[in-house]
Amino acid sequence: MLSRVSATQPADLVGELPGEFTERVNGLLELVEERLGTAAKADTDFVTEAAQHTIRAGGKRFRPLLVVLASLLGSSSPTDSVVRAALVMELTHVASLYHDDVMDEAELRRGVQTANLRWDNTVAILVGDFLFSRASSIVADLGTDYVKLQADTFARLVQGQIAETRGPRDGADPLEHYLAVLADKTGSLIAASALFGGMVAGLGEAELAALAAYGEEIGVVFQLSDDIIDIASDSSGKTPGTDLRAGVPTLPTLLARRSSDPADARLLALLDSDLSDDADLAEALRLMRAHPAIAEARDEIGRRAEVARAHLAPLPEGPARDALAALCDGVISRSA
Ligand code: IPE
Ligand code: IPE
Ligand code: MG
Ligand code: MG
Repeated sequence: MLSRVSATQPADLVGELPGEFTERVNGLLELVEERLGTAAKADTDFVTEAAQHTIRAGGKRFRPLLVVLASLLGSSSPTDSVVRAALVMELTHVASLYHDDVMDEAELRRGVQTANLRWDNTVAILVGDFLFSRASSIVADLGTDYVKLQADTFARLVQGQIAETRGPRDGADPLEHYLAVLADKTGSLIAASALFGGMVAGLGEAELAALAAYGEEIGVVFQLSDDIIDIASDSSGKTPGTDLRAGVPTLPTLLARRSSDPADARLLALLDSDLSDDADLAEALRLMRAHPAIAEARDEIGRRAEVARAHLAPLPEGPARDALAALCDGVISRSA
């Protein structure tokens, strides 16, 4: 079993693997862990504390895990490059979380207060920028291909976040818009993580294309699961119903909104209201949790996880590919 790097949720999303391989993965993830704290060090104690705040709180380290697993598809991946690539992905991710929590007015992240609540929006935004700059510095030593991919990925992520806040254009299909947002805001960085690992391993073009397709699909599955967790889980380390309250569309709410069943009238009215009242939010959560849209959303997750798994076919057989396949099940079961 992979060691837990997270107090919130385990990195054992990949289940049981051969002992030697697991040790290798754990060893690399531990190196990443050590370097994350150092990467967040700043010129003043205050900035260091604020930058380490969310990193220290844990998290699943899903992106580093993908970098490491993909890097082990090759026969010889230089340890320093694997660790750097994983650091770049996690730092970019954490930077986006600082900014996302400002946008979502979130109060809880990884089981601790968000930086915007603990300090304020200005600190959270600037610390996000600081962590992004650290990622940029580390990626520079990997080479221009990596710099370009990270930059293009962040541009996609940010545009996904903007598209989410803007909503679909008049007449556009909300579900299509939502799925495009997911691919951009989450799939892009997860695809880049798989690609970074493959690049470090020196894989060929066809294999890199397979990793990118796999990563993008599993990234969408990951976010679809996260959107169910917002409704269905009380132990995610985030405040349940954050998306509902913020009016952020998710697959379960989009599916529920399609209902013409009169029994759903109250739920639909609540989804259209601002839900700033705690009792209203609790009622909306209760009704959503009992709604068949949750099961429908889970079915969609299962279908897409199989698509992700199928993309692995051209990759070299072995424990790394098995682990990437097992991740498809891990990502489904985290919201089951
Ligand atoms: C949170 O990402 C934002 C999403 C894209 C869903 P994670 O669920 O990977 O968050 P941590 O890193 O484990 O905290
Ligand atoms: C986060 O999306 C995506 C990025 C940070 C780019 P969400 O807003 O859905 O994620 P959580 O639920 O806050 O982690
Ligand atoms: Mg959010
Ligand atoms: Mg958000």
